[in-house]
Amino acid sequence: MIRLEHVSVEFAADRTALDDICLSLGKHRFTVLLGPSGAGKSTMLRVANGLVAPTRGTVRNRHGIPIDATRSTLKTHRRDTGMVFQQHHLVGRLSALANVVNGRLGRLGRIHALLPPPQRDRLLALAMLDRVGLLDRAYTPAQQLSGGEQQRVGIARALAQEPSLILADEPVASLDPATAAQILTLIDTLTRHDGIRAVVSLHQVELATRFADWIVGLNQGRIVFEGPTSKLDPAVLDRIYQGSTPEREQALGRAAQ
Ligand SMILES: Nc1ncnc2c1ncn2[C@@H]1O[C@H](COP(=O)(O)OP(=O)(O)OP(=O)(O)O)[C@@H](O)[C@H]1O
Ligand SMILES: [Mg+2]
Repeated sequence: MIRLEHVSVEFAADRTALDDICLSLGKHRFTVLLGPSGAGKSTMLRVANGLVAPTRGTVRNRHGIPIDATRSTLKTHRRDTGMVFQQHHLVGRLSALANVVNGRLGRLGRIHALLPPPQRDRLLALAMLDRVGLLDRAYTPAQQLSGGEQQRVGIARALAQEPSLILADEPVASLDPATAAQILTLIDTLTRHDGIRAVVSLHQVELATRFADWIVGLNQGRIVFEGPTSKLDPAVLDRIYQGSTPEREQALGRAAQ
């Protein structure tokens, strides 16, 4: 679990991405972050992972230790929280397997990057590719895989870190609806059977209601809703998407269906 205590992130004097956030992430099995564009979803995930330092406030790891306490605390924290991004961040010319092995580097230490991966890490990476249903594509260069397959490699790479929590920033934004549902089903399975918790930012309310057991709604860097998915009614959606006409209409339209 990650605890954000009075966390603010200001990119400039007039650009507050997060405003005094107090929140525990990873307390629930499958949390979805909702909010209009610019609400602060990506910043929240990045600050939780230690990729962005808060301007004010403290981020604590699952032992209650501030993640910036020492370099090793930050390193351990990043290893414990697997990040999955919209754009996969894979190395296109490398095989799916090599990309997943790269996920082990945090565990192995940098000097190992210069050497062939130990057999054990290759085996673990193969097991993770199997876990996401891509064992038969292990030796295919990442750039020859479809968007959905690349995202599954991205998830396998995060899993290779053996994290307790996965933070996924719009992991299905560039995928067609069927593939998007497939990727979220995979994350759902991991949370049910592998003891991993997930915090996922999404733009699609219907996917949030289908997969999440807990919702955090952000608007202009503030939490405007937090609660179980069953409480996500039109009034709450109105609050989350206020000020963003197209997203609000879309969210309310979907909720009404
Ligand atoms: N590196 C940065 N430098 C300056 N401003 C930034 C930076 N990253 C984010 N911001 C600003 O912080 C605010 C929150 O951005 P963030 O990317 O967290 O929103 P988001 O909810 O993820 O939006 P989207 O749904 O479009 O991805 C926005 O106003 C954005 O312009
Ligand atoms: Mg974002």
